[in-house]
Amino acid sequence: MNSIVVGLQWGDEGKGKIIDYLCRKKDVIVRFQGGNNAGHTVVLNNKKFVFHLIPSGVLHKGKTCVIGNGVVIDPAVLLREISNLKKEGIDVSPKNLKISAHSHVIMPYHRIMDGLREKKRIQKIGTTQRGIGPCYVDKVGRCGIRMFDLVSPKKFSLKLKDNLREKNPLYKDVYKAREFSFKSIYEEYTRYARLLKPYVCDVPDYLYSMRRKRFLFEGAQGTFLDIDFGTYPFVTSSSTVSANASLGSGIPFIKVDEIIGVAKAYTTRVGEGPFPTELKGKLGSYFQEKGKEFGATTGRPRRCGWLDLALLKRSKILNNVSRIVLTKLDVLDKLKQIEVAVKYKTKEKNPFSFPFDLAKAQPLYKKVEGWNATTDGIRKYKDLPINAKKYIAMIEKHLDSKIAYISVGQMRDAIIEKEG
Ligand code: GDP
Ligand code: IMO
Ligand code: MG
Repeated sequence: MNSIVVGLQWGDEGKGKIIDYLCRKKDVIVRFQGGNNAGHTVVLNNKKFVFHLIPSGVLHKGKTCVIGNGVVIDPAVLLREISNLKKEGIDVSPKNLKISAHSHVIMPYHRIMDGLREKKRIQKIGTTQRGIGPCYVDKVGRCGIRMFDLVSPKKFSLKLKDNLREKNPLYKDVYKAREFSFKSIYEEYTRYARLLKPYVCDVPDYLYSMRRKRFLFEGAQGTFLDIDFGTYPFVTSSSTVSANASLGSGIPFIKVDEIIGVAKAYTTRVGEGPFPTELKGKLGSYFQEKGKEFGATTGRPRRCGWLDLALLKRSKILNNVSRIVLTKLDVLDKLKQIEVAVKYKTKEKNPFSFPFDLAKAQPLYKKVEGWNATTDGIRKYKDLPINAKKYIAMIEKHLDSKIAYISVGQMRDAIIEKEG
């Protein structure tokens, strides 16, 4: 059974926790896009792990974690992640971690450019400033440096020289920023290259050799941060939807059995951009506090709001979702009344139509009664409060989709299997 797991909202849906749970029954876990803008949290025995680049399956023994060509890699961050895991006694070696030779490397000038462009923009995006966008720009502009180039000193030197020849005047003259020294970047990055080289391989070739095994493709970010289908320009610079799992890892030969969409029981967003069900007052702060809604990567407070079913309906279509995982239901436990956006005001007859500009969307809300009980300790669906079950049933009905799992807490075992 091969699965793709993607976020259905604006990221931070709890993908890390769900992937850690689902990959018990998988052999190979593959990240296919994004970079260390992602922060995927797994809580194990009261210890919190936040993964930025390494797939969230790494805490399980006997699995292989793969970073695909679609990912952009900051080598310093990756090396830190590897070393922190080793300190915790987690096995990470070239045997269970494979890095695609085709993946692109985030360079210091990418990180700086991310900040400079953001500063210059009147309409800010609120990026994580990790150099993600500028790195993808260079990839498409055919001047990017791939892992394959990084681990070959001669190639790396040539490509770095070419890049600096073009970029240094831009930094100096247009952005009035400092120039980059070839020597210091070359020395720093060849040190990283020596340490990462044993992990670098031809991923399509490796995955082909594993084609009879069970795969899980780990999405980062969320559907509405997708470069094509998200709330452009307030998006990230990669394709976050399920269709990219194949391209971002180079394995069209694997049959995908299910696409699992992860959705929070309410909605959050970090950074700028439209958010139709956003709650700015006391309730927004309540969600922030109760849900500990602070970015796993940047620590920024996440904007919070009611669940938006119009958004999820669109995500379901964009990802071809077969089953949904609803997370953080426990955060709603103490609310007397819960609101849910069931659709947006529109004159459109087509029930699947979706506004091109989400900033203009006017949600129509349905009010439902809360359950005023603690769900955190519950492990069986039948034990959930009746109003929580009604909430879940309403989501299923509106989306015409099954919710397969319900997550009711941070801990690994705080999950309810609803079916199968
Ligand atoms: P990801 O980027 O989608 O992996 O999500 P993040 O890790 O950035 O953010 C999700 C946060 O919610 C993390 O702190 C998780 O530990 C936490 N979390 C995940 N599932 C649940 C849940 O069901 N209930 C609660 N209260 N917290 C959860
Ligand atoms: P995970 O995988 C939430 C947001 C940023 C910003 C926009 C562009 O943990 O769900 P970028 O640095 O990618 O150019 O920033 O995208 N963003 C995320 N928001 N979760 C993430 O990842 C995100 N990765 C990027 O806040 O609004
Ligand atoms: Mg996150």
